Amino acid sequence: MSIQEKIEQYSAEVMQWSPASKQEVEDFRLKFLVAKGVVKNLFEEFKTVSGEEKRALGKVLNEFKQLAEVKFTEMKAKFGAEQTEVKREAQDLTLPGPGFELGTRHPLSLVRKEIVEIFKKLGFVVAEGPEIEDDWHNFTALNFPEEHPARDMQDTFFIRKQLGNDIALRTHTSSVQVRMMEAGKPPFRAIMPGRVYRNEAISARAHCFFHQVEGLYIDEGVSFADLKQTLFHFVQELYGEDTKVRFRPSYFPFTEPSAEMDISCTICKGVGCTMCKYTGWVEILGCGMVDPNVLENSGIDAKKYSGFAFGMGIERITNLKYEIRDLRLFSENDVRFLKQFETEII
Ligand code: PHE
Repeated sequence: MSIQEKIEQYSAEVMQWSPASKQEVEDFRLKFLVAKGVVKNLFEEFKTVSGEEKRALGKVLNEFKQLAEVKFTEMKAKFGAEQTEVKREAQDLTLPGPGFELGTRHPLSLVRKEIVEIFKKLGFVVAEGPEIEDDWHNFTALNFPEEHPARDMQDTFFIRKQLGNDIALRTHTSSVQVRMMEAGKPPFRAIMPGRVYRNEAISARAHCFFHQVEGLYIDEGVSFADLKQTLFHFVQELYGEDTKVRFRPSYFPFTEPSAEMDISCTICKGVGCTMCKYTGWVEILGCGMVDPNVLENSGIDAKKYSGFAFGMGIERITNLKYEIRDLRLFSENDVRFLKQFETEII
C-alpha cells in the first residue's frame, strides 16, 4: 500500500472514530500519537518519498497529523468532563452539610449587658456619646484644671491640639454626662457604657483602650446615701449577696466629695489571694457627688439640683467575675478564649 493510500485509510478511520470510553481514547493515543505510533511512522516513511511527490504528500500528511491530534484533544476533553459530571451526580445531596459553628458574645458584651440590666431595673436609661470628643466635654466642663495631668499627651490621644480647642479620643465616658445634661432637663437617671482611650503601653494590666460604664443621677435632694445604696445594690446583684463594700475618700475633678469603692475579693472571698494582692479587697469604681461647677457648666441649677455619678471599667468587673488576669485577651479575638463565656444560646 502506498503512503498516500495509508493516509487516506487512516484519515477515514480517525474521522469515523467515536470512542465510548476513556480507555478507548487512551487506546487511540497509543495507536496514533506515541513515539512509535501511526503518525510518527508515516513521517518516517515520508522521508523515503522522492522529491516531486514530497510537496503534495507533505501537505496531506500534515493535515492528517492535525486531524488526529484535534480529534484526540476533543475526545479527551469530552471524557474528562463526563467523568467529573458522573462524579458530581454520585454525591448524595441528602447528606447533611458540614455544620457551621455558632459564635458567642464577647465576655465584655455579656458583662456590659448584665450591668445595664441591673441599672435598668432601678430606672436608669442607657445614653451614648461620641468617642471623638472635644476638650469641653472631656475636660473643661468636667472641672479639670487647665494644668491637670490627665490632659497631658501621655494619657490622652489628641487628634487636634489647638489651645482650648483640642479634639481627642475620649479618655472616659464622663463626657456623656455633660452632653446629657446640656441636652435635657433634670431629673437624669442614666448609665453610659462605651469605649474609652488612654495613651498607655499595652501590658497585662493596661491597654490603650478599654470600656467603661458611667452612671449619673441628678434630681432634687439626691444625697450620698442614695449613691451608697445604689452601688451596694448593684454589687450584690452582680457578685452575690455576701459581697461587702467599702468606700475610700478619693479625688476626681468632677465630683465632690469623691470616693472609690472596693468590694470584698470575689475570688478568695476576702481571705487573700493574688487578685486582691492579699488585702481581701479590690477596687471596682470611682464615684462621688457631681461637683456644682459641673452642673452649672452644663446648664443645671446647682442650688436646686444635686446628684451622684460613678464610673467603672467593664474589663475590671469582668476580670473579677471570671478571674481573667491579662487584659490583652479581650482584644486578641482568640476563639478558644471567647468561647468560654456564653452559656445560653443566643
Ligand atoms: N471618669 C472617672 C474615670 O475615668 C470615673 C468616675 C466617673 C469617677 C464618675 C467619679 C464619677 O476614672
